Amino acid sequence: MTGKVTIAGLGPGADAFITPSVAEAVSHATDVIGYIPYVKRITPRDGLTLHASDNRVERERAAHALDLAADGKQVVVVSSGDPGVFAMAAAIFEVLEENLDKWGHIDIEVLPGITAMLAAAARAGAPLGHDFCTINLSDNLKPWKVIEKRLRLAAEADFAMAFYNPRSKSRPEGFEKALILLKSICGDNRPVIFARAVSTSEETLRTVPLQDTSADMADMRTVVIVGSSQTRTINTKAGAWVYTPRTYG
Ligand SMILES: C[S@@+](CC[C@H](N)C(=O)[O-])C[C@H]1O[C@@H](n2cnc3c(N)ncnc32)[C@H](O)[C@@H]1O
Repeated sequence: MTGKVTIAGLGPGADAFITPSVAEAVSHATDVIGYIPYVKRITPRDGLTLHASDNRVERERAAHALDLAADGKQVVVVSSGDPGVFAMAAAIFEVLEENLDKWGHIDIEVLPGITAMLAAAARAGAPLGHDFCTINLSDNLKPWKVIEKRLRLAAEADFAMAFYNPRSKSRPEGFEKALILLKSICGDNRPVIFARAVSTSEETLRTVPLQDTSADMADMRTVVIVGSSQTRTINTKAGAWVYTPRTYG
C-alpha cells in the first residue's frame, strides 16, 4: 500500500492554535518528521515514530518523508506556523519535482496553520488591515542584494511589512542594515511591532517608533511588523492598539 505525506502547520506555539485538521492528521500518523523543537510538540504514543532532525536539512527531511510514504507510512511533516510560509511545504515540492519518477505517485496534502505574522498582528490589533508584504530577512537562500531591493521597493510602495528570521547570531548585521534603510526611506515614526515567541509562555510584544528601533530588539524567535505611513496607535484605558485603516490617504 502507498502511504501519504501530510505537510502540516502547528501554528505559532499554543496548542489552542493548532487546527482540528492538523490534530486529526497527527492522531492518524505512523511517522512525524520535523525540526527538533517542532517534533517536541508532538505527544508520543504507541504506533507513532518521531523523527527529529536539525536545522538546514530540509531537503534530506523531505526525501525521508517521501521515502517513508513510498513504504506505505502515513507521514506528517510538521512546521511551525503555516507549512507554506518559509517552511517545509516548498522544500518537499522542490525535492518532488526533481524526483518525479521515484515519488510522483505519492499522495500529498498540505494543511495550513496560523503563521507567526498573523498571530502577532492579532495580538497588536490590526496592523495588516491594509495592503502588506512579507519578507524573509535571512540571506541563507537568497543574496542580500535581493532582500535590500525588496525592502526598498516595499517601503517606497508604502506597504506594511512583516519580517521573518530577522536576526540570528550568524547574521547579526542584516537586520541593522534593514533598519537603516527603512529609517532613511520612510522618514517618519510609524509603529514597529517586535513580537517574540507569540502564543507561548515566553511571549513579549513591544511597539517602538521606527526611528527609535535598534537591531538588538529582534532575534530568531521574533517576527517584526513595520507599519505603513498610515499605521497608527490608539491608546485606551485598557491598553494600546496598533492598526492600519482600510482606506488609504
Ligand atoms: C523558518 S520561519 C518559520 C515560519 C513559520 N512557517 C510560520 O508560518 O510562522 C521561522 C521564523 O518565524 C518567526 N516565528 C515563528 N514562530 C514565532 C512565534 N511564535 N513568535 C514570533 N515569531 C515567530 C520568526 O521570525 C522565526 O525566525
